[in-house]
Amino acid sequence: MLFSRDDKELKDTYRTPIFGTEEEDVEMPRYSIGKKPIQPRVAYRLVKDELMDEGNARLNLATFCQTYMEDEATKLMAETLEKNAIDKSEYPQTTELENRCVNIIADLWHAPKDMKFIGTSTVGSSEACMLAGMAMKFRWRNRAKKLGMDVTNKKPNLVISSGFQVCWEKFCVYWDIEMRLVPLDEEHMSLNIDKVMDYVDDYTIGIVGILGITYTGKYDDIKKLNDVVEEYNKTAKLSVPIHVDGASGGLFAPFIEPDLEWDFRLKNVVSISTSGHKYGLVYPGIGWVMWKDEQFLPKELIFEVSYLGGKMPTMAINFSRSASQVIGQYYNFLRYGFEGYRQIHQRTKDVAMYLAKEIKDMGLFEIYNDGSNLPIVCYKLKEDANVEWTLDDLADRLLMKGWQVPAYPLPENLQNVRIQRIVCRADLGHAMAEQLVNDIKSGIKALNNAHVLEKNEQNKGAHGFTH
Ligand SMILES: Cc1ncc(COP(=O)(O)O)c(C=O)c1O
Repeated sequence: MLFSRDDKELKDTYRTPIFGTEEEDVEMPRYSIGKKPIQPRVAYRLVKDELMDEGNARLNLATFCQTYMEDEATKLMAETLEKNAIDKSEYPQTTELENRCVNIIADLWHAPKDMKFIGTSTVGSSEACMLAGMAMKFRWRNRAKKLGMDVTNKKPNLVISSGFQVCWEKFCVYWDIEMRLVPLDEEHMSLNIDKVMDYVDDYTIGIVGILGITYTGKYDDIKKLNDVVEEYNKTAKLSVPIHVDGASGGLFAPFIEPDLEWDFRLKNVVSISTSGHKYGLVYPGIGWVMWKDEQFLPKELIFEVSYLGGKMPTMAINFSRSASQVIGQYYNFLRYGFEGYRQIHQRTKDVAMYLAKEIKDMGLFEIYNDGSNLPIVCYKLKEDANVEWTLDDLADRLLMKGWQVPAYPLPENLQNVRIQRIVCRADLGHAMAEQLVNDIKSGIKALNNAHVLEKNEQNKGAHGFTH
């Protein structure tokens, strides 16, 4: 029995409609836990309703993270939430699925057959980048020590373009590394290959190339980077490795541009990271990091876990987490196969290029990325657009229709350029994209007819307007 009839305090029974229960009046606990339990169906409704005004994730074009998975995948993931990814001995078959994913990804990234690749799942690209960064730091230190270099008083450094994602700044702060930024500029919207080696010296633990700059979606030219690094390494005291941050491109490029050389085919690329929850098409909470060969992952970073009488190496910053995302990733690999991923990504790219063309044809915007690498469209207002509104105003108009399309400044050196970015994901179909174009057009029309109230010059954020 859920509640007895003679319960003096709780008159509701399981038959009472949710919005007729007294429990529905419960004060939502904010600072301390409530005194009594309430019915699960009422708790469910209350929490669900609290989240109702958060917007529709599918219309959020600000994020790379997946907002759609097939019902079967969602069911499978919901049914495996209790599995702990770190507990290799209790869940050996889950571990087997993780290992298969590592093998599949290593194969997509052309891990050389004559080397012993090693990799692991992570919570996302941030954890994957931390692990790759630590491996570069430890490996550099081990080698520098052998050469008698001062590894205690002098700080090592990491070289990356100023279009880096914040996880690299975190890595450098947490692990006490100097972050050397190669600036982006109007002529170099990705890593400047002519300049990058100026930032490298004997204390460089590695260079990070980005396959899909977060701000614009552009790819660093990893092949050219490999060439200049190769030249440098010929005479270097300590050879410099390349890590590729393929958060978005790592599981996009292999399917769409298989001939693009950015991965382990390149000699100096020793590690790669990606987010399974971006173009790996899994809900948030999964990333992958891979080393081309065991020699690039110092032994002291690997911890041995007993596993069915054998030993299972693990490397993670986290310990316990659900394995359901790993299982979701394996489901996708099994379900889609290479051709399925290719079809999904190709259509997403077509949608991005359609959007870029439509937006260009509006005549007001300069396109920075037209979706021809990653399916990301970003643009700024033309200098001579001659309009009284800003991209922030347009973002506000789109928000009224439920679309989240943020406007923000480009990184250091280009911070005066304010752009708007549309991240196309698998679940943004062509019909939805047409609707977005119509909403942009009607937003512009409304803004052109509005009397825009300019705030002071310092505040370039959202502007108010009156009709
Ligand atoms: C280039 C790059 N690196 C790392 C990350 C961090 O990814 P995650 O959210 O999976 O931790 C992102 C996220 O957008 C990114 O674009």
